[in-house]
This record gives sequence, C-alpha cells and structure tokens, in this order.
Amino acid sequence: MTSTLVTSIGELTTWEPDRPIRHDAAIVFDQGAVAWVGDAADAPAADQRVDAEGRAAVPGFVDSHSHLIFAGDRADEFEARMAGQKYEAGGIRRTVRLTREADDATLLANARAIVDEMRRQGTTTVEIKSGYGLTVHDEQGAMRLARELTPETTFLGAHVVPVEFADDPDGYVDLVTGEMLDACAPFARWIDVFCETGAFTVEQSRRILEAGAARGLGLRLHAGQLGESGGVQLAVELDAASVDHGTFLSDADVDALAGSNTVATLLPGVEFSTRQPYPSGRRLLDAGVAVAIATDCNPGSSFTSSIPFCIALAVREMGMTPLEALRAATVGGARALRRDDVGHLRVGATGGLALLEAPSASHLAYRPGVPLVHQVVG
Ligand code: NIG
Ligand code: FE
Repeated sequence: MTSTLVTSIGELTTWEPDRPIRHDAAIVFDQGAVAWVGDAADAPAADQRVDAEGRAAVPGFVDSHSHLIFAGDRADEFEARMAGQKYEAGGIRRTVRLTREADDATLLANARAIVDEMRRQGTTTVEIKSGYGLTVHDEQGAMRLARELTPETTFLGAHVVPVEFADDPDGYVDLVTGEMLDACAPFARWIDVFCETGAFTVEQSRRILEAGAARGLGLRLHAGQLGESGGVQLAVELDAASVDHGTFLSDADVDALAGSNTVATLLPGVEFSTRQPYPSGRRLLDAGVAVAIATDCNPGSSFTSSIPFCIALAVREMGMTPLEALRAATVGGARALRRDDVGHLRVGATGGLALLEAPSASHLAYRPGVPLVHQVVG
C-alpha cells in the first residue's frame, strides 16, 4: 500500500483535543493509517495526491449497530406501521424463516451489498450482529459470514425466542448459553441480547450476558426500545460497552449511564421507521452520558444504511447540534466498540476519512437526503 496526501481540505474534523477542527488542512495516510496532519501549506510529499478542492472532510463513520445477515424484506410491515400499526418484536421471526431458507452465498452477497452501500455513505467501520438464525447451525453460519465482513461481530442468538421454543423460553436460554455460545464465540467479539417485553427478561439477559463474558466476549444490550425496563441498569452494572435504543429511559437510567463507562447508542432510524417518539439526545448529553448514533440497519425496524440520514434525524429530532451528532457517529461509535483507533483523524487513526461535497460537516444535517459523500480515503 502506498502513501496518500489529501490536500486543500476546506474544513477537516480530526477531533484532536486541542484543535478538533482545522481549516485549509491536509492529511497523509500511510499503510491505511494517518501519518501526518497539518496546514495544507506545509504538506509533505506522498506517493499519491488527492486535491480536495476546498471540500470538508470528516472521520469515516463508525456504525456500531447493524443486523446485516438476513434474507428478504418487510416493506409490508413498514407500510402497515405508516398506516397506524404498532411495531412488535414478533416480526423478527418472519426474517428468521427466510434467513434459514437462504444459502450462505445469498446471505453474504446481501450483507456485502449493504456494507458497500454504507461505505459509499462514509461508513468505514461497521458492527454486524447475528440473530436471524436462532439455531446452533444458523447462528454459527451467520457469525462466520459476519466475520468475513468485519472484526466487529456480535452474537445475538438471544434476539427473540424462536417458534420451536415458544413453550420453553428458558430451554432456549439454556441453548443460547450452552451449545450455541460454544459454536458462535470463536467468531464473535461481542454478545448482545434483545432485553424487552416479547423478547428476553432482565434475568434471562443477565444469564446470557454473564455466559458471554465468561467466554471472553464484550457486552452490548438492546434495551428501552418498547418501554422502560431494568435493561439499561443491567448493562451499566455489567459494564457493557453500549446499551442501544434508549427510546424509553427513566431518570434513574440516565443517572446510571452518566456515572458509567457504558455508551448510550441512539438509533434514530428506528423511531423514523416505527413512528415511535424520538428519545432526547440533549437530555443524555446534558447529563454527561457518552452518546453514539448508529443505523441499526435491519429489515424490520430500520432499513437504512445511512449514517448521514441518522445524523440529520439526531439533529432535527433529538436536540443535538450538527457537531454533537457528527461526534456521536464517529468518536461515539468508536467508544461504543471500545476502539480508539477509529472515529477520529489523529496520527495513527485507521478508519479513513469521508470527503464531503460540501464546505462544512454541518451540511450533513443541513442538506438531508443528499448524497454528500464524494470519496472515501484511507
Ligand atoms: O434493533 N430490537 C431488536 N432487533 C432489531 C429489530 C429487528 C427486526 O425487527 O427484524 C432492532 O430494532
Ligand atoms: Fe438492533
């Protein structure tokens, strides 16, 4: 791999502590990592040169929550919701049926197409969960495929209780924490549970997360999507890297998050696609909670691959400024994955940058729906 100089950057967001945003800047990537950042006038030579022609550049986005190993879509459910029907966790089982029927080549091609779509929209780091297989064989298959696409893989055997265990949910928890975990852990960095009415209780979630931790997996949790629950406080108690959704959060949840190492990952595409109320990012930020924004890309509750769209929603609907939303989609996502090498453009960073067809990063929210990512470098 050669070195690349990107120069004449009108506005460069690096998130360097003393100078988070530079103007008339340049940056050099060597072997995929940032090797130099400074004024365009001082730029060193490199093997290749990209002239940004005054465009803004931001760190490659970190999408810390997606479910990409699936077959089929559920556009009919979306249409029904837009006509007034409620979102229910049970829809997951439809995708499980179609995913079990699909072969690996189809599942991989589908997921790869979405990862490519994400990259065209500036995302360079993506987390991918299993969770539409729900048998030992199908979950392991999903984890293997996810591993082909990203190191940030999450075992979500506890997405819902599959139909064949409808009468024995605790039997399914035994399977998830036993044979299924054994089969999936070698391909997983993380373990996650959908802790919600209609999915898994707080006590079941605790069992599953503790089993994952005992296997060396990092912890994440879906909680507070359909109502308040003890899930958020469980995530904090177990030092999960992230608790995701947070559509419904009590004051005690916010207090617990504020004093913790657990990131609150907001998923505004879900509120968009389910017509649920948007949670307040402002409330979390004002309380001192670390906030991330991710797409939750999945065929049920949020079928967007676009971090720029989520940034625009977070600004318009969650009370965040454009800069706060950008931070949440870069540094915030990195923190939700406990990574310090992506989500910023300080020397050593490996997540690349997105060059925008815009003079400043605020255009990501100011020009919603416009394909602003001109090029991804690094
Ligand atoms: O994050 N909440 C659980 N899982 C997904 C939804 C999956 C689906 O509806 O297929 C989510 O929203
Ligand atoms: Fe999710």
